[in-house]
Amino acid sequence: MAYNLLKGKRGIIFGALDHNSIAWKVAEKAHEEGAKFVLTNAPVAMRMGEIKELAEKTGSEIIPADATSLKDLENLIDKAQEILGGKLDFVLHSIGMSVNVRKGRPYTNLNYDWLTKGWDVSAVSFHKLMNLLYNKDAMNDHGSIVAYSYIAAQRVFPDYNDMADNKAYLEAIARNFGYFFAKKNGVRVNTISQSPTPTTAGKGVKSFEGFLKYAELMSPLGNATAEECADYTLTLFSDLTRKVTMQNLFHDGGFSSTGVSMEMMDLFMKNLDEKEEEGKK
Ligand code: NAI
Repeated sequence: MAYNLLKGKRGIIFGALDHNSIAWKVAEKAHEEGAKFVLTNAPVAMRMGEIKELAEKTGSEIIPADATSLKDLENLIDKAQEILGGKLDFVLHSIGMSVNVRKGRPYTNLNYDWLTKGWDVSAVSFHKLMNLLYNKDAMNDHGSIVAYSYIAAQRVFPDYNDMADNKAYLEAIARNFGYFFAKKNGVRVNTISQSPTPTTAGKGVKSFEGFLKYAELMSPLGNATAEECADYTLTLFSDLTRKVTMQNLFHDGGFSSTGVSMEMMDLFMKNLDEKEEEGKK
């Protein structure tokens, strides 16, 4: 259902790779809510066929940009304002990648060139983006900037590897830049900490199916889907959340506040009983 929440608002959406991407759902829903935006992704990662389909569907233009390149980001911000006809009201950073995760290097033996690359793509790019938006005065008063995080920033999930550290850094950047943007012109900066979601980035994490099922059992409301994450994101882009800033907002069906669920306890006890029975044999 559309509420015209973003009527007249202009923005940039990073990270729509395919139909499963969270950013893809945000673009579809932002369009339904009346927003105009530019789509962007890394030139090497961009699946032109797929993103063109989204661009056509949402009446958007595509401007390629590697989020680690200041030159690309500067070009993107300038062109987006030209195309959209003014300053920006919202920006979505939906970007994540770890070379160590991709190549299966364990946390206890990381490759540091790969660590640096993943950190730059997943976290520092958020600072670079906001640095340019801030210094180019590209955000409208009371605009909103959102990036996506994961609870491995606060708690240990061994297979999340160096992405856990990248997310902790990303959340810190949101907090710190959020202060300066609030003081400058009331722009909000937040991270949404999302449930595990079956996307290309999500499925890249070792034992992802386990993550997904475990979180489902441990979340009283169940895992939040990509569509639901998009809905939540739109509320942060809307004028209904003008005093929410510098927060890491859990969008996880209650996972982050749950010690253990009855479903998980039942499963654990069943397993334990079976193990004990086997031991007696
Ligand atoms: P996705 O794989 O669809 O999106 C990741 C995007 O990052 C892709 O579009 C990719 O092209 C882009 N990207 C990679 N390197 C880039 C670069 N140098 N410049 C510009 N873009 C680049 O996966 P998903 O899940 O939609 O990821 C979006 C965000 O949500 C990421 O920050 C991810 O860490 C986060 N997140 C995902 C969860 C999941 O389980 N899928 C859970 C919590 C957070």
